Amino acid sequence: MSEPLRLLDAVSMLSRRVNSAIVLAGSTICAVVAVPPGFPASGNGIWFTEPGRGFDFWADDWLPVGNGYLAAMVNGQTAQEVTQLNIESLWAGGPFQYPDYNGGNKMPSEQQTVAQEMQAIRQTIFDSPDGTIDSIVELTNGITGYGSHVGAGYLLATLDLSGDFSDFVRWLDLDVAVQRTSWVQGNNSFFRETFCSHATRACVQHTNTTGSSSLPVLTYVYSIDAEPGLPTPTVSCFDSSTLKITGTASSPGMAFEILARVSASGTNASVICTPADTNNATISVRGASASWITWVGDTNYDANAGDATHAFSFKGADPHDALVARIGPATATPETYASILAAHIADYSQLMGKFRLDLGQKPDLDTPTDQLRDAYQTDVGDTYLEWLLFNFGRYLLASSARGTLPANLQGKWGKDASNPWGADYHANINLQMNYWFAELTDMDVVKPLFDYIEKTWAPRGSLTAQYLYNISEGWVTHDEMNIFGHTGMKQGGGTTSAAADYPEANAWMMVHVWDHFDFTQDTDWFKEQGWPLLKGVAQFHLQKLVPDVIWQLFNAIDKGFPASGDMDIAFLNGMHSLFACESARSSCVLASLTEVRTKRAQMDKGIHIGSWGQLQEWKVDMDSPSDTHRHLSHLVGLYPGYAITGYDPAVQQTRENYTHEEVVAAATTSLIHRGNGTGPDADSGWEKVWRAACWAQLANASVFYHELSYALERNFAPNLFSLYSAGPGAIFQIDANFGFAAALLNSLIQAPDVASTTDVYNVFILPALPANWPSGSIQNARIRGRLDVSFSWEKSALTSLEVAAESPVAVGRRIRFWHKGKIIRELTASPGMNVKLL
Ligand SMILES: *[C@@H]1O[C@H](CO)[C@@H](O)[C@H](O)[C@H]1NC(C)=O
Ligand SMILES: *[C@@H]1O[C@H](CO)[C@@H](O)[C@H](O)[C@H]1NC(C)=O
Ligand SMILES: *[C@@H]1O[C@H](CO)[C@@H](O)[C@H](O)[C@H]1NC(C)=O
Ligand SMILES: *[C@@H]1O[C@H](CO)[C@@H](O)[C@H](O)[C@H]1NC(C)=O
Ligand SMILES: *[C@@H]1O[C@H](CO)[C@@H](O)[C@H](O)[C@H]1NC(C)=O
Ligand SMILES: *[C@@H]1O[C@H](CO)[C@@H](O)[C@H](O)[C@H]1NC(C)=O
Ligand SMILES: *[C@@H]1O[C@H](CO)[C@@H](O)[C@H](O)[C@H]1NC(C)=O
Repeated sequence: MSEPLRLLDAVSMLSRRVNSAIVLAGSTICAVVAVPPGFPASGNGIWFTEPGRGFDFWADDWLPVGNGYLAAMVNGQTAQEVTQLNIESLWAGGPFQYPDYNGGNKMPSEQQTVAQEMQAIRQTIFDSPDGTIDSIVELTNGITGYGSHVGAGYLLATLDLSGDFSDFVRWLDLDVAVQRTSWVQGNNSFFRETFCSHATRACVQHTNTTGSSSLPVLTYVYSIDAEPGLPTPTVSCFDSSTLKITGTASSPGMAFEILARVSASGTNASVICTPADTNNATISVRGASASWITWVGDTNYDANAGDATHAFSFKGADPHDALVARIGPATATPETYASILAAHIADYSQLMGKFRLDLGQKPDLDTPTDQLRDAYQTDVGDTYLEWLLFNFGRYLLASSARGTLPANLQGKWGKDASNPWGADYHANINLQMNYWFAELTDMDVVKPLFDYIEKTWAPRGSLTAQYLYNISEGWVTHDEMNIFGHTGMKQGGGTTSAAADYPEANAWMMVHVWDHFDFTQDTDWFKEQGWPLLKGVAQFHLQKLVPDVIWQLFNAIDKGFPASGDMDIAFLNGMHSLFACESARSSCVLASLTEVRTKRAQMDKGIHIGSWGQLQEWKVDMDSPSDTHRHLSHLVGLYPGYAITGYDPAVQQTRENYTHEEVVAAATTSLIHRGNGTGPDADSGWEKVWRAACWAQLANASVFYHELSYALERNFAPNLFSLYSAGPGAIFQIDANFGFAAALLNSLIQAPDVASTTDVYNVFILPALPANWPSGSIQNARIRGRLDVSFSWEKSALTSLEVAAESPVAVGRRIRFWHKGKIIRELTASPGMNVKLL
């Protein structure tokens, strides 16, 4: 979000500030509350005037940094900094802990028996008047070995320092993705900064002082005292300045290793690693003007070993050699620290790209973030805080999504030997919500998500298709997944529910696969990864019952076929009828596409209006008007989907001949009756921001803003982490951080998908602009077809609108721009276009 140089300026400003702070401290003028020098003038940061509270407030006060592979939570203390570490793949459970682990699947020998049971269960459902069934326990398996993401211990950095401190401030700079702490103690000013660099795959914590010539003695130790249940690791001196930590996630379990190397500057600086008693070691730094610790970490997990060829072992090499190779270049010398920091900032800045949001916010640089959050009220709002939370969402995605695994229920920030819901991947809204805004704000972060699906769901999911569904093609999974290919249905135990047995998770995730292609027009990627994923899921559903959410999947198959390059005769020669191919593939036969089209035409599109005017959640009209359940699964077609939003009677023929207006009115009725996201079953943030996004989709600015602001008031911690439930001690769950940003965006620009590439694409500008945001602008929102849209508004009126195209765009695509119910302009996409529409 800013040039690398800016940070170097910030550092020099900071040392100026530190000098003046000494004078201030000497003259006992302190406790002036203001952002620190170097804090972004735009206000793009989170800051506090007190250190974070203890371990119990990890989710409330501590500040997150991460590069996707590694993550850390920084407490922001003075004499002893406590940094909690994460390695993305560090999980208990799976084949590492249970050699017989098989992803919760049936045995091959059970296939025919299970097929008969499945058949009987289906018959029972069809025969029952309300389409329900008491138990499907025969289809499920125990959850032994499901596991959990686990924390990777704590790094304690202790300065030999005592007495009172003053002028304390800590902050997270969202322009540059660096956490900083500064304070005055004794006669010295101290400054510490922590970041995780994607460029080096390492994290760094740098401490320095001004005032006297050197830092007090600084010691670094590694501790798991605050991670109950984690097996005791071995800490040793890898060399004279490097701690080596080796341990396991569980016992027995996945192995991990961390190398943490200390560097120091100053002519008399010494760094010594001292082995302590058994299995421990300490690094001490003396006489340094600055000291920093660089750590890398990894496990012996390897998603590439998650297939039948590798007996689903998920086991890779011992990470040691790779870490040794990694830590060298990642460790700055006194001369190179600034360049390593600058490289991190440049990388982050490039990822954040050209997208910009301005809500007309006025930064409050006098009030710490926790106080702004405390003062925040539903409907009253605070534009600056809302803008900040939007930026924080993008920061968190940038910091957690770019590893080898996607962002989990907590991004990549988890602690202890187990986490709520295992900090796993729930693909019945939560995983989807994590990525809602990624394409529209042009963030190149989604590939690890698709790699994860391809490597851990599809291989064992094809066995689940066989053993559980008696289906020989394609793959399936159910909606709660670990990193060990848990594709079966779940039975019993703490992390299970009937919802965990939902087999449409694969179809829903394919919306993201399709969207990535639609937004980027990256044909090479689509051929290589996107299309095979879509096809595998379509193959499964073609043989299974055809439920409602997968209408969009079949459309994606239809729309994506021309770009797929697919010549698979087995997929093509299902032979329902013949269909002419594109010239590129001359005379090939598109039978399976025809099969997709035939089944799509036959299927129930899931659109039924019930007795109280609601859009039915179930096939049978059994919804209760007082059901305020947290999920809005029947409204997926409103947001983020398009089956309701873009309902077209000509395409989605219903027996009742519903009109678009009728369907939208029914969805609105359902949404109203679903309540505001505080119900008997839950009070989480994600349900409120999903409701906000739906209200924006309905162009209802006031209810949109009510829900969005209600979520902010109720479900966000002082550090702006989203909380699963309201109140102290609430569980951190990251989805509402991402969903908040997406919902906010959905009030400003909507670019929903359409069923066919020959349809006109509608783009709605300021569809639900709340009164609180009378002026603002968006620059370079990327819409479908790879077009960049920029616009601004003043006094709640649109004042400019431009569309530009990179190459390659979806050439020839018709796009219609709307504002306040009127068409501004319809145009055809072409490479290099740059059109001012207003
Ligand atoms: C399972 O699939 C096979 C092959 O299509 C079929 O012959 C068999 O009848 C199926 N079993 C059941 C119980 O449907
Ligand atoms: C700070 O400096 C003053 C003046 O040099 C000195 O008297 C005092 O002892 C110092 N305090 C500490 C804690 O070092
Ligand atoms: C190593 O020793 C330090 C005290 O010097 C202690 O805080 C830390 O918990 C120990 N680490 C382990 C892994 O036992
Ligand atoms: C380094 O040590 C020497 C010898 O003790 C001393 O004269 C010098 O002042 C020290 N330099 C710094 C920067 O502390
Ligand atoms: C729907 O439209 C079709 C075709 O016009 C018509 O035959 C049918 O009766 C209509 N159904 C209802 C419920 O009105
Ligand atoms: C949310 O809904 C609950 C239950 O209907 C109600 O008590 C509460 O006042 C509502 N709050 C807001 C902010 O909408
Ligand atoms: C928004 O929805 C509320 C609640 O259903 C309704 O009272 C209000 O009229 C709607 N506003 C608009 C602009 O549609």
